Amino acid sequence: MPEGTKAWSGRFAGSTAALMERFNASIGFDRKLMDVDIAGSVAWARALARAGVLAPAEVDLIVGGLEQVRREMAAGTYDFRPELEDIHMAVEQRLTQLIGPVGGKLHTGRSRNDQVNLDERLFLRRAASELDRALRQLQAVVVASAQAHVAVVLPGYTHLQQAQPIVFAHYALSLFWMLQRDRGRLADASARADRLPLGSGALAGTTFAVDRDALASELGFAGITENSLDAVSDRDFLLEFIAAAAIVMMHLSRFCEDLIIWSSAEFGFIELADAFATGSSMMPQKKNPDSLELVRGKTGRVYGSLMSLLTTMKGIPLTYAKDMQEDKEPFFDALETALISVEVFTGAWETMTLRPERMAAAIDDKALATDLADYLVRRGMPFREAHRVIGSLVRRAIADGRALASYSLAEFQAHDAAFGADVMSLLNLEASLAQRNIAGGTGPDAVNRQLAQARAALAAGTAG
Ligand code: ARG
Repeated sequence: MPEGTKAWSGRFAGSTAALMERFNASIGFDRKLMDVDIAGSVAWARALARAGVLAPAEVDLIVGGLEQVRREMAAGTYDFRPELEDIHMAVEQRLTQLIGPVGGKLHTGRSRNDQVNLDERLFLRRAASELDRALRQLQAVVVASAQAHVAVVLPGYTHLQQAQPIVFAHYALSLFWMLQRDRGRLADASARADRLPLGSGALAGTTFAVDRDALASELGFAGITENSLDAVSDRDFLLEFIAAAAIVMMHLSRFCEDLIIWSSAEFGFIELADAFATGSSMMPQKKNPDSLELVRGKTGRVYGSLMSLLTTMKGIPLTYAKDMQEDKEPFFDALETALISVEVFTGAWETMTLRPERMAAAIDDKALATDLADYLVRRGMPFREAHRVIGSLVRRAIADGRALASYSLAEFQAHDAAFGADVMSLLNLEASLAQRNIAGGTGPDAVNRQLAQARAALAAGTAG
Protein backbone atom coordinates (compact mmCIF):
# COMPACT_ATOMS: atom_id res chain seq x y z
CA MET A 1 0.00 0.00 0.00
CA PRO A 2 1.80 3.17 -1.13
CA GLU A 3 1.80 5.94 1.41
CA GLY A 4 -1.24 8.17 1.20
CA THR A 5 -3.34 5.52 -0.56
CA LYS A 6 -6.19 4.12 1.44
CA ALA A 7 -6.65 0.39 1.87
CA TRP A 8 -10.16 0.78 0.47
CA SER A 9 -9.28 3.19 -2.34
CA GLY A 10 -10.13 0.77 -5.19
CA ARG A 11 -13.80 1.65 -5.09
CA PHE A 12 -13.11 5.39 -5.09
CA ALA A 13 -12.29 7.73 -7.94
CA GLY A 14 -11.98 10.86 -5.84
CA SER A 15 -10.06 11.58 -2.66
CA THR A 16 -11.31 12.19 0.87
CA ALA A 17 -11.78 15.78 2.00
CA ALA A 18 -9.20 16.81 4.57
CA LEU A 19 -12.07 17.78 6.86
CA MET A 20 -13.63 14.33 6.48
CA GLU A 21 -10.28 12.70 7.13
CA ARG A 22 -9.94 14.58 10.39
CA PHE A 23 -13.52 13.79 11.37
CA ASN A 24 -13.27 10.11 10.48
CA ALA A 25 -9.99 9.40 12.22
CA SER A 26 -9.92 7.53 15.50
CA ILE A 27 -6.18 7.10 15.59
CA GLY A 28 -5.81 10.01 18.01
CA PHE A 29 -7.39 7.86 20.71
CA ASP A 30 -7.49 4.25 19.51
CA ARG A 31 -3.70 4.12 19.45
CA LYS A 32 -4.16 2.99 23.04
CA LEU A 33 -5.19 -0.32 21.47
CA MET A 34 -1.85 -0.74 19.68
CA ASP A 35 -0.52 -3.51 21.91
CA VAL A 36 -3.67 -5.60 21.91
CA ASP A 37 -4.22 -4.96 18.19
CA ILE A 38 -0.82 -6.40 17.40
CA ALA A 39 -1.27 -9.32 19.79
CA GLY A 40 -4.53 -10.11 17.99
CA SER A 41 -2.89 -9.84 14.58
CA VAL A 42 -0.02 -12.15 15.54
CA ALA A 43 -2.52 -14.77 16.69
CA TRP A 44 -4.66 -14.24 13.57
CA ALA A 45 -1.64 -14.74 11.28
CA ARG A 46 -0.87 -18.01 13.03
CA ALA A 47 -4.48 -19.11 12.74
CA LEU A 48 -4.42 -18.34 9.00
CA ALA A 49 -1.29 -20.49 8.69
CA ARG A 50 -2.95 -23.37 10.51
CA ALA A 51 -5.86 -23.02 8.10
CA GLY A 52 -3.43 -23.32 5.20
CA VAL A 53 -4.00 -19.75 4.06
CA LEU A 54 -0.49 -18.51 4.83
CA ALA A 55 2.75 -20.37 4.18
CA PRO A 56 5.07 -20.86 7.17
CA ALA A 57 7.61 -18.41 5.76
CA GLU A 58 4.89 -15.82 5.31
CA VAL A 59 3.73 -16.08 8.91
CA ASP A 60 7.28 -15.70 10.14
CA LEU A 61 7.67 -12.59 8.05
CA ILE A 62 4.37 -11.15 9.22
CA VAL A 63 4.94 -11.94 12.90
CA GLY A 64 8.48 -10.53 12.80
CA GLY A 65 7.19 -7.43 11.03
CA LEU A 66 4.40 -6.96 13.58
CA GLU A 67 6.92 -7.15 16.42
CA GLN A 68 8.95 -4.47 14.67
CA VAL A 69 5.85 -2.27 14.29
CA ARG A 70 5.12 -2.76 17.99
CA ARG A 71 8.62 -1.64 18.94
CA GLU A 72 8.47 1.43 16.72
CA MET A 73 5.04 2.48 17.93
CA ALA A 74 5.91 1.86 21.58
CA ALA A 75 9.11 3.89 21.25
CA GLY A 76 6.99 6.97 20.66
CA THR A 77 8.76 7.97 17.46
CA TYR A 78 6.03 6.75 15.15
CA ASP A 79 3.93 9.52 13.58
CA PHE A 80 0.25 8.64 14.03
CA ARG A 81 -1.15 10.79 11.21
CA PRO A 82 -4.93 11.25 10.94
CA GLU A 83 -5.00 10.06 7.30
CA LEU A 84 -4.07 6.61 8.61
CA GLU A 85 -7.63 6.53 9.96
CA ASP A 86 -7.29 4.13 12.83
CA ILE A 87 -4.81 1.93 14.66
CA HIS A 88 -5.74 -1.12 12.58
CA MET A 89 -4.92 0.62 9.30
CA ALA A 90 -1.79 2.20 10.75
CA VAL A 91 -0.38 -1.14 11.88
CA GLU A 92 -1.16 -2.80 8.56
CA GLN A 93 0.30 0.05 6.56
CA ARG A 94 3.53 0.13 8.54
CA LEU A 95 3.77 -3.66 8.36
CA THR A 96 3.51 -3.55 4.59
CA GLN A 97 6.12 -0.84 4.39
CA LEU A 98 8.43 -3.05 6.40
CA ILE A 99 7.85 -6.48 4.82
CA GLY A 100 6.33 -5.71 1.43
CA PRO A 101 3.18 -7.08 -0.24
CA VAL A 102 2.98 -10.16 2.02
CA GLY A 103 1.82 -7.71 4.71
CA GLY A 104 -1.33 -7.38 2.63
CA LYS A 105 -2.20 -11.02 3.40
CA LEU A 106 -2.69 -10.39 7.13
CA HIS A 107 -6.21 -9.01 6.77
CA THR A 108 -7.43 -12.14 4.93
CA GLY A 109 -10.77 -13.28 6.35
CA ARG A 110 -10.84 -10.49 8.87
CA SER A 111 -12.67 -7.17 9.08
CA ARG A 112 -11.99 -4.21 11.25
CA ASN A 113 -15.42 -4.97 12.66
CA ASP A 114 -14.33 -8.18 14.36
CA GLN A 115 -10.81 -6.83 14.84
CA VAL A 116 -11.84 -3.77 16.86
CA ASN A 117 -14.21 -5.89 18.89
CA LEU A 118 -11.37 -8.26 19.70
CA ASP A 119 -9.06 -5.39 20.64
CA GLU A 120 -11.61 -3.94 22.99
CA ARG A 121 -12.19 -7.26 24.70
CA LEU A 122 -8.47 -7.75 25.18
CA PHE A 123 -8.09 -4.20 26.47
CA LEU A 124 -11.02 -4.61 28.82
CA ARG A 125 -9.46 -7.67 30.37
CA ARG A 126 -6.44 -5.59 31.38
CA ALA A 127 -8.55 -2.58 32.39
CA ALA A 128 -10.75 -4.64 34.67
CA SER A 129 -7.81 -6.21 36.41
CA GLU A 130 -6.12 -2.82 36.89
CA LEU A 131 -9.24 -1.33 38.42
CA ASP A 132 -9.74 -4.45 40.50
CA ARG A 133 -6.22 -4.14 41.87
CA ALA A 134 -6.86 -0.52 42.87
CA LEU A 135 -10.14 -1.47 44.56
CA ARG A 136 -8.49 -4.30 46.41
CA GLN A 137 -5.80 -1.91 47.64
CA LEU A 138 -8.50 0.45 48.92
CA GLN A 139 -10.20 -2.46 50.67
CA ALA A 140 -6.94 -3.33 52.41
CA VAL A 141 -6.57 0.28 53.59
CA VAL A 142 -10.18 0.33 54.78
CA VAL A 143 -9.71 -2.88 56.78
CA ALA A 144 -6.53 -1.53 58.38
CA SER A 145 -8.32 1.66 59.43
CA ALA A 146 -11.26 -0.35 60.78
CA GLN A 147 -8.85 -2.43 62.83
CA ALA A 148 -7.05 0.66 64.13
CA HIS A 149 -10.28 2.42 65.14
CA VAL A 150 -12.40 -0.49 66.17
CA ALA A 151 -13.62 1.23 69.35
CA VAL A 152 -13.98 4.81 68.11
CA VAL A 153 -17.62 5.82 68.64
CA LEU A 154 -19.39 8.40 66.52
CA PRO A 155 -22.96 9.35 65.69
CA GLY A 156 -24.56 7.30 62.93
CA TYR A 157 -26.86 9.32 60.66
CA THR A 158 -29.99 8.94 58.63
CA HIS A 159 -31.24 12.05 56.80
CA LEU A 160 -27.98 13.56 58.11
CA GLN A 161 -29.72 13.69 61.49
CA GLN A 162 -28.23 11.82 64.43
CA ALA A 163 -29.79 8.38 64.55
CA GLN A 164 -27.85 5.88 66.68
CA PRO A 165 -24.25 5.59 67.84
CA ILE A 166 -21.91 3.42 65.74
CA VAL A 167 -18.21 2.58 65.79
CA PHE A 168 -15.85 3.84 63.11
CA ALA A 169 -14.83 0.30 62.15
CA HIS A 170 -18.45 -0.45 61.28
CA TYR A 171 -18.64 2.67 59.16
CA ALA A 172 -15.38 1.84 57.37
CA LEU A 173 -16.40 -1.75 56.73
CA SER A 174 -19.63 -0.62 55.10
CA LEU A 175 -17.36 0.70 52.34
CA PHE A 176 -15.46 -2.58 52.25
CA TRP A 177 -18.61 -4.53 51.29
CA MET A 178 -19.64 -1.99 48.67
CA LEU A 179 -16.21 -2.36 47.11
CA GLN A 180 -16.55 -6.12 47.30
CA ARG A 181 -19.70 -5.95 45.17
CA ASP A 182 -18.01 -3.47 42.83
CA ARG A 183 -15.25 -6.00 42.26
CA GLY A 184 -17.86 -8.65 41.61
CA ARG A 185 -19.46 -6.48 38.93
CA LEU A 186 -16.09 -5.96 37.25
CA ALA A 187 -15.44 -9.69 37.33
CA ASP A 188 -18.86 -10.30 35.76
CA ALA A 189 -18.17 -7.80 33.00
CA SER A 190 -14.83 -9.48 32.32
CA ALA A 191 -16.34 -12.94 32.30
CA ARG A 192 -18.98 -11.95 29.74
CA ALA A 193 -16.36 -10.25 27.57
CA ASP A 194 -14.26 -13.40 27.62
CA ARG A 195 -15.25 -14.64 24.13
CA LEU A 196 -13.29 -14.52 20.90
CA PRO A 197 -15.09 -12.58 18.12
CA LEU A 198 -12.52 -13.26 15.36
CA GLY A 199 -13.88 -15.40 12.57
CA SER A 200 -17.01 -13.26 12.44
CA GLY A 201 -15.51 -11.21 9.62
CA ALA A 202 -17.42 -8.08 8.72
CA LEU A 203 -20.71 -9.60 9.90
CA ALA A 204 -21.52 -12.98 8.31
CA GLY A 205 -18.50 -15.10 9.22
CA THR A 206 -15.28 -15.66 7.31
CA THR A 207 -14.99 -18.10 4.39
CA PHE A 208 -11.60 -19.38 5.59
CA ALA A 209 -11.53 -22.48 7.77
CA VAL A 210 -9.93 -20.89 10.80
CA ASP A 211 -10.06 -22.98 13.98
CA ARG A 212 -11.75 -20.44 16.21
CA ASP A 213 -11.47 -22.54 19.36
CA ALA A 214 -7.71 -22.94 18.97
CA LEU A 215 -7.40 -19.22 18.31
CA ALA A 216 -9.52 -18.49 21.39
CA SER A 217 -7.25 -20.50 23.64
CA GLU A 218 -4.15 -18.98 22.10
CA LEU A 219 -5.48 -15.53 23.02
CA GLY A 220 -6.58 -16.74 26.45
CA PHE A 221 -10.34 -16.55 25.87
CA ALA A 222 -12.73 -18.89 27.66
CA GLY A 223 -14.66 -19.51 24.44
CA ILE A 224 -15.89 -18.09 21.15
CA THR A 225 -18.87 -15.88 20.28
CA GLU A 226 -21.82 -17.88 19.01
CA ASN A 227 -23.21 -15.49 16.42
CA SER A 228 -21.20 -13.32 14.04
CA LEU A 229 -23.87 -10.62 13.78
CA ASP A 230 -24.07 -10.35 17.54
CA ALA A 231 -20.29 -10.43 17.87
CA VAL A 232 -19.55 -7.41 15.68
CA SER A 233 -22.52 -5.49 17.10
CA ASP A 234 -21.82 -6.18 20.73
CA ARG A 235 -20.59 -3.41 23.00
CA ASP A 236 -22.37 -4.75 26.10
CA PHE A 237 -19.06 -5.55 27.71
CA LEU A 238 -17.94 -1.93 27.47
CA LEU A 239 -21.27 -0.75 28.84
CA GLU A 240 -21.04 -3.19 31.72
CA PHE A 241 -17.54 -2.05 32.50
CA ILE A 242 -18.50 1.63 32.47
CA ALA A 243 -21.62 0.87 34.52
CA ALA A 244 -19.49 -0.94 37.08
CA ALA A 245 -17.08 2.01 37.13
CA ALA A 246 -20.02 4.41 37.55
CA ILE A 247 -21.23 2.45 40.57
CA VAL A 248 -17.71 2.49 42.05
CA MET A 249 -17.71 6.28 41.63
CA MET A 250 -21.16 6.59 43.21
CA HIS A 251 -19.94 4.67 46.25
CA LEU A 252 -16.79 6.75 46.60
CA SER A 253 -18.75 9.95 46.06
CA ARG A 254 -21.01 9.24 49.03
CA PHE A 255 -18.04 8.64 51.27
CA CYS A 256 -16.42 11.80 49.92
CA GLU A 257 -19.54 13.68 50.89
CA ASP A 258 -19.38 12.33 54.45
CA LEU A 259 -15.69 13.08 54.82
CA ILE A 260 -16.07 16.58 53.38
CA ILE A 261 -18.78 17.32 55.94
CA TRP A 262 -16.73 15.68 58.68
CA SER A 263 -13.69 17.80 57.86
CA SER A 264 -15.61 21.06 58.39
CA ALA A 265 -14.91 23.08 61.53
CA GLU A 266 -18.48 22.43 62.64
CA PHE A 267 -18.01 18.67 62.66
CA GLY A 268 -14.26 18.34 63.05
CA PHE A 269 -14.47 14.52 63.03
CA ILE A 270 -11.49 14.16 60.71
CA GLU A 271 -8.65 16.17 59.28
CA LEU A 272 -7.24 15.43 55.84
CA ALA A 273 -3.48 15.19 55.50
CA ASP A 274 -1.80 18.16 53.86
CA ALA A 275 -0.87 15.79 51.05
CA PHE A 276 -4.52 15.45 50.00
CA ALA A 277 -5.81 18.96 50.69
CA THR A 278 -5.23 22.30 49.04
CA GLY A 279 -5.26 25.94 50.11
CA SER A 280 -7.13 29.04 49.03
CA SER A 281 -5.57 31.68 46.79
CA MET A 282 -7.13 34.38 48.94
CA MET A 283 -8.02 33.11 52.41
CA PRO A 284 -4.90 32.09 54.30
CA GLN A 285 -6.73 29.97 56.87
CA LYS A 286 -8.35 27.59 54.39
CA LYS A 287 -7.59 23.90 54.03
CA ASN A 288 -9.92 22.53 51.40
CA PRO A 289 -10.80 18.87 50.78
CA ASP A 290 -10.23 19.20 47.02
CA SER A 291 -9.18 15.57 46.64
CA LEU A 292 -12.58 14.38 47.83
CA GLU A 293 -14.48 17.11 46.00
CA LEU A 294 -12.80 16.10 42.75
CA VAL A 295 -13.65 12.43 43.22
CA ARG A 296 -17.25 13.50 43.87
CA GLY A 297 -17.13 15.77 40.82
CA LYS A 298 -15.60 13.20 38.51
CA THR A 299 -18.45 10.85 39.36
CA GLY A 300 -20.61 12.94 37.05
CA ARG A 301 -18.07 12.53 34.32
CA VAL A 302 -18.13 8.73 34.52
CA TYR A 303 -21.94 8.77 34.51
CA GLY A 304 -21.62 10.92 31.39
CA SER A 305 -19.50 8.25 29.72
CA LEU A 306 -22.11 5.64 30.50
CA MET A 307 -24.95 7.76 29.13
CA SER A 308 -22.87 8.66 26.10
CA LEU A 309 -22.26 5.07 25.04
CA LEU A 310 -25.77 3.88 25.92
CA THR A 311 -27.14 6.66 23.75
CA THR A 312 -24.71 5.97 20.92
CA MET A 313 -25.73 2.32 20.81
CA LYS A 314 -29.48 2.65 21.03
CA GLY A 315 -30.28 3.52 17.44
CA ILE A 316 -27.72 1.56 15.46
CA PRO A 317 -29.22 -0.96 13.08
CA LEU A 318 -27.46 -4.31 13.11
CA THR A 319 -24.64 -4.82 12.65
CA TYR A 320 -21.71 -2.39 12.65
CA ALA A 321 -21.96 1.32 11.93
CA LYS A 322 -19.33 3.97 12.36
CA ASP A 323 -21.24 5.44 15.28
CA MET A 324 -19.60 2.65 17.25
CA GLN A 325 -16.22 4.28 16.90
CA GLU A 326 -17.56 6.67 19.55
CA ASP A 327 -17.31 3.83 22.08
CA LYS A 328 -13.62 4.23 22.82
CA GLU A 329 -13.30 7.65 24.42
CA PRO A 330 -15.99 7.08 27.05
CA PHE A 331 -14.51 3.67 27.80
CA PHE A 332 -10.94 4.94 28.15
CA ASP A 333 -12.05 8.00 30.06
CA ALA A 334 -14.19 5.99 32.49
CA LEU A 335 -11.28 3.66 33.14
CA GLU A 336 -8.74 6.42 33.69
CA THR A 337 -11.08 8.55 35.77
CA ALA A 338 -12.16 5.67 37.99
CA LEU A 339 -8.59 4.46 38.44
CA ILE A 340 -7.14 7.76 39.56
CA SER A 341 -10.21 8.51 41.67
CA VAL A 342 -9.86 5.22 43.55
CA GLU A 343 -6.15 5.87 44.06
CA VAL A 344 -6.66 9.42 45.31
CA PHE A 345 -9.50 8.36 47.58
CA THR A 346 -7.28 5.59 48.97
CA GLY A 347 -4.52 8.09 49.68
CA ALA A 348 -6.88 10.56 51.35
CA TRP A 349 -8.45 7.84 53.50
CA GLU A 350 -5.15 6.30 54.49
CA THR A 351 -3.64 9.59 55.62
CA MET A 352 -6.58 11.32 57.28
CA THR A 353 -6.52 11.85 61.04
CA LEU A 354 -9.55 10.88 63.08
CA ARG A 355 -10.66 13.04 65.99
CA PRO A 356 -12.37 10.53 68.29
CA GLU A 357 -12.94 13.13 71.00
CA ARG A 358 -14.89 15.34 68.57
CA MET A 359 -16.91 12.36 67.41
CA ALA A 360 -17.79 11.31 70.95
CA ALA A 361 -18.57 14.88 72.02
CA ALA A 362 -20.94 15.27 69.09
CA ILE A 363 -23.20 12.45 70.22
CA ASP A 364 -26.41 13.76 71.70
CA ASP A 365 -27.70 11.06 74.05
CA LYS A 366 -31.12 11.34 72.44
CA ALA A 367 -29.49 9.00 69.95
CA LEU A 368 -30.17 6.37 72.65
CA ALA A 369 -33.93 6.88 72.42
CA THR A 370 -34.45 3.69 70.40
CA ASP A 371 -32.68 1.73 73.15
CA LEU A 372 -35.13 3.15 75.72
CA ALA A 373 -38.10 2.21 73.54
CA ASP A 374 -36.70 -1.29 73.06
CA TYR A 375 -36.26 -1.50 76.85
CA LEU A 376 -39.96 -0.77 77.39
CA VAL A 377 -40.84 -3.37 74.76
CA ARG A 378 -38.84 -5.94 76.72
CA ARG A 379 -40.97 -5.04 79.71
CA GLY A 380 -44.10 -5.91 77.76
CA MET A 381 -45.16 -2.62 76.16
CA PRO A 382 -46.19 -2.70 72.48
CA PHE A 383 -43.53 -0.99 70.37
CA ARG A 384 -45.87 1.73 69.05
CA GLU A 385 -46.76 2.77 72.59
CA ALA A 386 -43.11 2.66 73.69
CA HIS A 387 -42.24 4.88 70.70
CA ARG A 388 -44.82 7.44 71.87
CA VAL A 389 -43.68 7.32 75.51
CA ILE A 390 -40.02 7.88 74.57
CA GLY A 391 -40.94 10.44 71.91
CA SER A 392 -42.67 12.59 74.52
CA LEU A 393 -39.71 12.10 76.89
CA VAL A 394 -37.37 13.38 74.16
CA ARG A 395 -39.65 16.35 73.52
CA ARG A 396 -39.53 17.18 77.20
CA ALA A 397 -35.74 16.79 77.35
CA ILE A 398 -35.38 19.18 74.42
CA ALA A 399 -37.66 21.70 76.13
CA ASP A 400 -35.71 21.30 79.40
CA GLY A 401 -32.38 21.52 77.59
CA ARG A 402 -31.30 18.31 79.33
CA ALA A 403 -29.66 15.06 78.34
CA LEU A 404 -31.68 11.87 78.77
CA ALA A 405 -29.00 10.54 81.13
CA SER A 406 -29.54 13.50 83.46
CA TYR A 407 -32.98 12.29 84.51
CA SER A 408 -33.32 10.45 87.80
CA LEU A 409 -35.09 7.15 88.19
CA ALA A 410 -37.93 8.97 89.96
CA GLU A 411 -38.30 11.31 86.99
CA PHE A 412 -38.34 8.37 84.55
CA GLN A 413 -40.97 6.63 86.60
CA ALA A 414 -43.04 9.78 86.89
CA HIS A 415 -42.97 9.98 83.09
CA ASP A 416 -44.12 6.36 82.78
CA ALA A 417 -44.67 3.75 85.44
CA ALA A 418 -43.20 1.01 83.24
CA PHE A 419 -39.62 2.15 83.86
CA GLY A 420 -37.62 -0.02 86.31
CA ALA A 421 -34.35 0.74 88.10
CA ASP A 422 -32.33 -1.04 85.41
CA VAL A 423 -33.13 1.75 82.92
CA MET A 424 -30.34 3.78 84.54
CA SER A 425 -27.66 1.40 83.25
CA LEU A 426 -28.88 1.79 79.64
CA LEU A 427 -28.06 5.40 79.09
CA ASN A 428 -24.46 5.18 77.95
CA LEU A 429 -22.74 4.47 74.65
CA GLU A 430 -21.13 1.19 75.71
CA ALA A 431 -24.48 -0.26 76.71
CA SER A 432 -26.03 0.89 73.46
CA LEU A 433 -23.29 -0.69 71.34
CA ALA A 434 -23.19 -3.89 73.41
CA GLN A 435 -26.85 -4.48 72.56
CA ARG A 436 -26.05 -4.60 68.85
CA ASN A 437 -24.03 -7.75 68.55
CA ILE A 438 -26.49 -9.15 66.06
CA ALA A 439 -24.73 -10.37 62.89
CA GLY A 440 -24.07 -7.27 60.77
CA GLY A 441 -24.59 -4.90 63.73
CA THR A 442 -22.30 -2.28 65.22
CA GLY A 443 -21.74 -4.11 68.56
CA PRO A 444 -18.10 -4.85 69.43
CA ASP A 445 -18.33 -8.64 69.01
CA ALA A 446 -20.25 -8.34 65.76
CA VAL A 447 -17.74 -5.85 64.38
CA ASN A 448 -14.86 -8.12 65.32
CA ARG A 449 -16.54 -10.99 63.49
CA GLN A 450 -17.14 -8.71 60.53
CA LEU A 451 -13.50 -7.67 60.49
CA ALA A 452 -12.51 -11.32 60.34
CA GLN A 453 -14.94 -11.89 57.45
CA ALA A 454 -13.54 -8.92 55.56
CA ARG A 455 -9.98 -10.12 56.08
CA ALA A 456 -10.94 -13.59 54.90
CA ALA A 457 -12.68 -12.20 51.79
CA LEU A 458 -9.63 -10.12 51.01
CA ALA A 459 -7.30 -13.09 51.41
CA ALA A 460 -9.53 -15.36 49.35
CA GLY A 461 -9.50 -12.79 46.56
CA THR A 462 -13.17 -13.50 45.93
CA ALA A 463 -15.44 -10.68 44.94
CA GLY A 464 -19.13 -10.48 45.84
N1 ARG B 1 -11.99 2.69 13.80
C1 ARG B 1 -13.15 1.86 13.66
C2 ARG B 1 -13.93 1.82 14.97
O1 ARG B 1 -13.37 2.12 15.95
C3 ARG B 1 -12.76 0.47 13.30
C4 ARG B 1 -13.83 -0.29 12.65
C5 ARG B 1 -14.10 0.25 11.30
N2 ARG B 1 -14.98 -0.60 10.56
C6 ARG B 1 -15.56 -0.17 9.43
N3 ARG B 1 -16.32 -1.01 8.84
N4 ARG B 1 -15.37 1.03 8.97
O2 ARG B 1 -15.07 1.49 15.01
